[in-house]
Amino acid sequence: MKLKKLLLATRNKDKVIEIKHVLKDLKIEIISADSFENLPDVEEDQPTLEGNAIKKAQVLFEIAGIPTVADDTGLEVDFLKGHPGVRSSRYAGENATYEDNVNKLLEVLAGVPSEKRTARFRTIVAFCNGKEVQTLEGVCEGTILDERRGHSGFGYDSVFYVPQFKKTFAEMDLQQKNEISHRGLALKKFKELINLKMK
Ligand code: IMP
Repeated sequence: MKLKKLLLATRNKDKVIEIKHVLKDLKIEIISADSFENLPDVEEDQPTLEGNAIKKAQVLFEIAGIPTVADDTGLEVDFLKGHPGVRSSRYAGENATYEDNVNKLLEVLAGVPSEKRTARFRTIVAFCNGKEVQTLEGVCEGTILDERRGHSGFGYDSVFYVPQFKKTFAEMDLQQKNEISHRGLALKKFKELINLKMK
């Protein structure tokens, strides 16, 4: 199988930047959903990250006819029994901004001691080429700070602290975040899969 083009099933510009950075050495044309007219926004209405990632990859493959990769990501906070999880983008309400969601998270965790603020980002990447759908997972462990630190990245990055590096994701550059992040790790597995298939 020779993969020449890959459609990214997302309009999230922050994700597109990270995904293109990880996949740049695949040497294939990477097109984001925004480059197409008339591609629908696929509703993320499944109960799991895996369900949403598969749905996005399948629906857009069926419309565009191009091998498609989709990512669905959740932040799982242990003190909140795994929430916001699959609802991370809508944590503070249907049209919540990144800022609204971080504010809500800081509010609900106010007063919770640092040792109880453990959390992880989980990404499921789904790949659909019409013949098969494959999923790959990436997980990054950390803790939720009680205030923002750093200005890079997006979403919950400024409050997600990675003890191993003594930095939040928002204090890392793109290269460092992608080396250790949930999305970076899932995409590395995806690259291995594609490289195997292209042999
Ligand atoms: P989605 O459902 O995969 O689009 O992601 C859910 C939400 O999780 C996004 O709206 C972001 O707020 C957040 N998110 C996803 N990936 C990251 C990340 O790498 N860093 C910080 N927040 C993220």
